[in-house]
Amino acid sequence: MRILVVGTGGREHALLWKLRRDAPSAELFATQPNAGMASLARPVPIAPGDVEALTGWAASQRIDLAVVGPEAPLAAGIADRFRKKGVPVFGPSAEAARIEASKAFAKDLMTEAGIPTAGHRTFTDAEQAVAFIRESGAPIVVKASGLAAGKGAVVCATVEEAEAAVSSMLHDRAFGEAGREVVIEEFMEGEELSVFAVTDGEEALLLLSAQDHKRIGEGDTGLNTGGMGAYAPVSLATPAILLEAREKILVPTLRALAAKGCPFKGLLYAGLMLTKDGPKVVEFNCRFGDPETQAILPLLDSSLLELFAEVAEGGSLKGREPRFRAETAVTTVLASEGYPGDYPKGRTIDIPAAVSDDPDVMVFHAGTQLAGDRVVTSGGRVMTVTGIGATLAEAASRSREAAASIRFDGKQFRRDISWREMARDERMKV
Ligand code: AMP
Ligand code: GLY
Repeated sequence: MRILVVGTGGREHALLWKLRRDAPSAELFATQPNAGMASLARPVPIAPGDVEALTGWAASQRIDLAVVGPEAPLAAGIADRFRKKGVPVFGPSAEAARIEASKAFAKDLMTEAGIPTAGHRTFTDAEQAVAFIRESGAPIVVKASGLAAGKGAVVCATVEEAEAAVSSMLHDRAFGEAGREVVIEEFMEGEELSVFAVTDGEEALLLLSAQDHKRIGEGDTGLNTGGMGAYAPVSLATPAILLEAREKILVPTLRALAAKGCPFKGLLYAGLMLTKDGPKVVEFNCRFGDPETQAILPLLDSSLLELFAEVAEGGSLKGREPRFRAETAVTTVLASEGYPGDYPKGRTIDIPAAVSDDPDVMVFHAGTQLAGDRVVTSGGRVMTVTGIGATLAEAASRSREAAASIRFDGKQFRRDISWREMARDERMKV
């Protein structure tokens, strides 16, 4: 079997790692692989965003399954193009990917279908947006409607901050075209939970839920990032909460998309806020989470490839049930100096043998590349280090210690990944 993974980050490294385990004899290919992916897959010298070139390549290479990691090629229609050329693909059509690519579309769909989410209004006119903010008061949330690499949401404590956010998006175009339209939302209070469903358009097969740490600083302080660490499972994701998420959020969303003529076939990621009134949607994503995937996949015992292939071939997931190890995984992101702002590249990375050889530690590369025989940094998020353990404390210390022992100049990482769950554990003991 010939499998192509599109994307170059930690999530894609984890996907390749799992596919390699599921199909030891498959031929794996990856677009512009980072240094870690390069040992698992043959390189395809085409950027993940070059949809036309990739379509031609995949069709001519008789690829049996394409798995698309990032949202941008999905929003640009890569799955539609692949299907048209007869390349089976796991990932939604461009129309279905609007659930992530246009927050305005997602919010309207949720409102129409009665799916619990923050109340909102959409604006292209700054004066109207500001009038609405003044009328609503703070705290309030201002979001660029389009794709902004996870950085387009601003939670504002004051009306002045919200006005400044509107002005930077609509006037200064801080997020370019993604901020041509802004969504202004009610502030929701609670803990966040990332819920993942593999779906054929109707069935929603839930994977383990995870919690991400989006802020750069320990204790969840400082600027928003693409994600600085994650852990799974999360005790807040009780069977009752997951049932509610499935019945009130995931299934109705899939029905609403199918009713619009764009069934969602791929991975639907619901970012939820667990409010006192039950789970509400913060956002949908049309792909796996990064870094949540690096925590979830090492715990998945059953085949991911079988699920991908079924969906890609247009089959049904009815009766399937993913099986997870009864252990915990914590993944810590190592980021470059300066991230989430500008950062240097080309710094040499040293991974001690004790880390590479530990069967309970997985190093998933993100922004790395090979420079001769050295591995060097090439992105903001450089790698994620997953620790597996029988307990959360064990998993967290494995991840943290491995993160501490990997070296490159200017390395930043958070030592407190999974702190909320740790605090819950402590409270349970008292
Ligand atoms: P998003 O890009 O929509 O995922 O938002 C990024 C982060 O901003 C989320 O993970 C939340 O922490 C926060 N956030 C977004 N929307 C809201 C909201 N309506 N209420 C409270 N926090 C929010
Ligand atoms: N971890 C957040 C995301 O993948 O969007």
